[in-house]
Amino acid sequence: MTSETTPLRQLTLDQLRKRTSEKWRAHPGDVLPMFVAELDAPLAGPVVDAITEAVRRGDTGYPAGTAYAEALANFARDRWDFDGIAVDRTTMVPDVMSGIVEVLDVICGRTDAVVVNCPVYAPFYQVVGRTGRPIEEAPLGTDGRIDMTVLDDAFRRAARRGSRPAYLLCSPHNPTGSVHTADELAEVAALADRHGVRVVVDEIHAPLVLAGARFTPYLSVPGAENGFSVISASKAWNLAGLKAAVAVAGPAAVDDLARIPAWVNESPSHVGVLAHVAALRDGGGWLDALLADLDENRRLLARLLAEHLPAVRYRPGEGTYLAWLDCRALGLGDDPAATFLERGRVALSPGPVFGTGGAGHARFNLGTTPELVAEGVRRMAGALT
Ligand SMILES: Cc1ncc(COP(=O)(O)O)c(C=O)c1O
Repeated sequence: MTSETTPLRQLTLDQLRKRTSEKWRAHPGDVLPMFVAELDAPLAGPVVDAITEAVRRGDTGYPAGTAYAEALANFARDRWDFDGIAVDRTTMVPDVMSGIVEVLDVICGRTDAVVVNCPVYAPFYQVVGRTGRPIEEAPLGTDGRIDMTVLDDAFRRAARRGSRPAYLLCSPHNPTGSVHTADELAEVAALADRHGVRVVVDEIHAPLVLAGARFTPYLSVPGAENGFSVISASKAWNLAGLKAAVAVAGPAAVDDLARIPAWVNESPSHVGVLAHVAALRDGGGWLDALLADLDENRRLLARLLAEHLPAVRYRPGEGTYLAWLDCRALGLGDDPAATFLERGRVALSPGPVFGTGGAGHARFNLGTTPELVAEGVRRMAGALT
């Protein structure tokens, strides 16, 4: 069995501890890290080849051309039956979060509000807050999905605060792993149109949709023409250290796209772009194997929690490799991850940083080996004894 057939069954804890990225260096060596969204898998073969050959050539200058957008357009066509990524409606950006900042800067005024569905990826708050724009929260429903009535209300509040509000949609949703359906997204587009809200969708987890669900690109739904998608191969192929991403404008957003400064397109890592192109173009087999491993891991986690921590509620996500655990019944207060870390030496992401609805929750990273999923649960359970 190779990395191309079972990527999440290749590496031992000793091998992983040699890594020097955030996941493996943020905590002391006795802590099992299950927090930041890094994958405990070897890189896909085509990615390794692309990087190695670039380094051998000394090909480490600035990025050029449209290969990333083309690879993404082909991937979207093959995987999602979506033919709507036109290369001339894209720009490269260094990473998804900085791409979101660039897009917000051209579609919103300085003080216009940005709507988010909490609980949501914590940097949404930091990045929007840093631009000085207020946030309007539209909490997800108890089923972890977008509540259209709540969203309608948040759009109304946002529109009252300024004339060019935006909605930062996470699709699939981090941390719940919900995969928005085509109908939901069409409803979002209609609501946004009604309130004059521009939609920016973070689709970084799009390739990570597991068996039983289907990813719908936001720009493919009716009414989404003036939206933006910001997307990258970085999450699915573990390329966060090789910075590159793409912002895609809908057909009615090309004028906004044109206002993003031209130098932004040259600011990703060139080696990153080569790696991302290789992933999207030739890394499909590896991705399918990863998705199969993740499917097993989400079932394993559900089984282990039921056995060892039955009070923890877990609805296995349809996408992402993140598990959102409702630990409120454990009586550990707002931040159960603090107890798991202190007493169990396992680092989960603390729920409260995900905004309203995060208290009493913790996020567990399933992008690891089955052994470490089990060890993570063992340590969580051990923290309670
Ligand atoms: C929803 C979401 N957006 C963005 C990012 C970060 O992406 P980037 O490193 O490209 O800014 C992550 C990382 O986990 C994420 O989960």
